[in-house]
Amino acid sequence: MSRIFEETVIKTLRLKNRLVRSATHEGMSDERGFPEGKLFSLYEELAAGGIGLIITGEAYVCRDGNSFFKGMLGIDRDEFIPAYRKLASFVHERGAKIAMQLVHCGRQTTSEAAGAQPIAPSAIKEKTLFTRPRAMTEDDIERIIEAFAQAARRVKESGFDAVQIHAAHGYLINEFLCPHTNRRKDRWGGSIENRMRIVSGIYSRCRRLVGDDFPILIKINGYDKKRGGLELKESVVMAGMMSGMGFDGIEVSCGIFEDNMSTLRGDVPVEAVLDDWDIYRKKNFAYRAYMRYFYRRIINPEPFSQAYNLEAARAVKKAVNVPVFLVGGMVDPALMERIIGKGDADYICLSRSLIANPGFPKKILGGSREPSRCVHCNLCMAYLTKRSLRCYNGSRI
Ligand SMILES: Cc1cc2nc3c(=O)[nH]c(=O)nc-3n(C[C@H](O)[C@H](O)[C@H](O)COP(=O)(O)O)c2cc1C
Ligand code: SF4
Repeated sequence: MSRIFEETVIKTLRLKNRLVRSATHEGMSDERGFPEGKLFSLYEELAAGGIGLIITGEAYVCRDGNSFFKGMLGIDRDEFIPAYRKLASFVHERGAKIAMQLVHCGRQTTSEAAGAQPIAPSAIKEKTLFTRPRAMTEDDIERIIEAFAQAARRVKESGFDAVQIHAAHGYLINEFLCPHTNRRKDRWGGSIENRMRIVSGIYSRCRRLVGDDFPILIKINGYDKKRGGLELKESVVMAGMMSGMGFDGIEVSCGIFEDNMSTLRGDVPVEAVLDDWDIYRKKNFAYRAYMRYFYRRIINPEPFSQAYNLEAARAVKKAVNVPVFLVGGMVDPALMERIIGKGDADYICLSRSLIANPGFPKKILGGSREPSRCVHCNLCMAYLTKRSLRCYNGSRI
């Protein structure tokens, strides 16, 4: 039998296969951050589709970490616990496991969504959202570390199987790790040890609250493509430190907002973004025309390719002694098998393949070697500011 479908164990988390739903913002919670009925329906489809582990869409650990995308999950108060208990047992009854992804969006949000001026390690303007963040004080940093730890405690108390810290994609934790966004001269910036201090603070306080057996996972960038940004050489060292600290698994991704969606690859849906995102809708005709030209002729976005984080995951795998989760362009079942078979990664994470078809794992289990239906138009992402998650398969609304 394919190694993809063997059982594995990470501490108290027993998984029926090596396929994981990578965290995907669903936009299926109410304005208070509580999960709505459609999130239950989506997870029902995912569980029925054969996935081993569902990682929820990003959930904010405090309200100023909220996304500018619609309907983000919240986990900043104990009040959430009963609702998440229902969600966790709902998924368990359907044969899958569930982890929650914790995030603070840092400077990659708007003041409107954050309810305050966004915060970041340093006051470096974010050029896609035009956000001017405020540099965090020591008190802010302590508050955020505590917020992650309290959120992890709530995740465990809600009966989830694991928690994942989002330290990728240009959000707050990633902003500390990345030299472009972290220009601090104090103990939180500069050397790798200093930039990593927030991660070790979060890890040790989470661990104290959830105990030794509860899996704490982390998602990192192998690199981002921003000049002066995080490079693979440093990420590998950081991953080694994370493994040494006691993280139980590392998902390897890439990219920040400012590097033109390299997290996703494929089409940059400029028209949909210009039409749908409020910050661009307000812009005049000349600006919109410039953006169209800029993206099509100058940026020339990176085309989609399969397994685009594989090299980074391989490098991380050599530096750590915990499971490595590979995400990004995993569309071909035969390639998944080769990667797992060769030991280049331990788990295969899927986002768009499951948006396009939640039943994709079941098809693979049934012997199909057909690639995913996703055409990498990235409209599912472009329309998230106002709409819940769905597949558009290349046709705009
Ligand atoms: C619509 C959409 C929403 C996403 N939301 C999240 C998220 O909440 N947290 C996260 O870490 N990554 C998020 N991602 C990134 C995915 O988890 C994944 O890293 C990326 O899409 C590459 O994997 P894929 O090729 O399987 O789609 C999102 C991606 C998409 C397309
Ligand atoms: S909208 Fe559908 S086809 Fe387009 S990228 Fe998203 S999942 Fe893939």
